Amino acid sequence: MIEQVHITAAMRQASDALRARGKTIAVVPTMGALHEGHRALIREARARADAVVVTLYVNPTQFGPHEDYSRYPRDPARDAAVAEAGGADYLFVPGDGEMYGPGFQTFITVEQLSTPLEGASRPGHFRGVATVVAKLFQITNPHYALFGQKDAQQVAVVRRLIRDLNFPVELVVVPTVRGEDGLALSSRNAYLSSAERAEAPVLYRSLVRAEEAARGGERSAAALASGVAAMVGTARGASLEYVAVVDAETLQPLSRLEPGGRVLICLAARFGATRLIDNVQFMV
Ligand code: PAJ
Repeated sequence: MIEQVHITAAMRQASDALRARGKTIAVVPTMGALHEGHRALIREARARADAVVVTLYVNPTQFGPHEDYSRYPRDPARDAAVAEAGGADYLFVPGDGEMYGPGFQTFITVEQLSTPLEGASRPGHFRGVATVVAKLFQITNPHYALFGQKDAQQVAVVRRLIRDLNFPVELVVVPTVRGEDGLALSSRNAYLSSAERAEAPVLYRSLVRAEEAARGGERSAAALASGVAAMVGTARGASLEYVAVVDAETLQPLSRLEPGGRVLICLAARFGATRLIDNVQFMV
């Protein structure tokens, strides 16, 4: 049986007790609406550690004032069943009062990595992510933390946070889980109409084509980006917010792809009111 914990101090006590017995702990932070992507993280956590803690918290500080915080899909009973079926031992489900009590005012900013790409479109987003992730590390005291490649910039931010604030946590990055047609699984896919859902796989197709072009010798980042934009532009109802060809670790824009470097091509696009992101990462 999975154990649900709602109180911060109780979660920390449970972690301390596990550690006292010499057990290793893996944490999988989520905002719920769990799908196969989250399940892959839980599976990997299960394979690595003695105890798996899934956290379930729709973190208000990472949403902008006009974003989907209030309508973000919430189904804690179903999430608990999914986490349990995946072999999680604990589900940490804090209330807002637990995470951001009266007078809360301490935030963490991972400066440069938070500003481009998603950070430019969503000011304050990574400040909220870094703050809640640091808090979840304090509360669950894990040996391993599992994050999905789907959110590539989040991975870069968390990697930096771990180094800069000396968290004794090993970051484990899990490849993006996709539907059969290539669309990256996301809790936000639930917002798509069936027509939008049918068009959305163009995002990944355009990224795969760019990766193939790069492997085929295309070295110009601008050429790769405009290929992606052109292909997304052919999809009905799709509006590309950005596509960027960057260094996977620093997120700095590349002009030419240099052999030996890790390249990240990432994009955000809207289908109606729904905003989706995706990326591919590779070496040339
Ligand atoms: P959420 O969007 O619920 O995602 C939780 C974790 O699942 C993240 O590490 C994300 O990258 C991963 N994930 C989502 N879709 C995936 C997919 N298709 N394949 C592989 N992994 C996938 O990301 C967040 O929540 C929040 O920002 C959080 C880290 C919990 C902080 O609030």
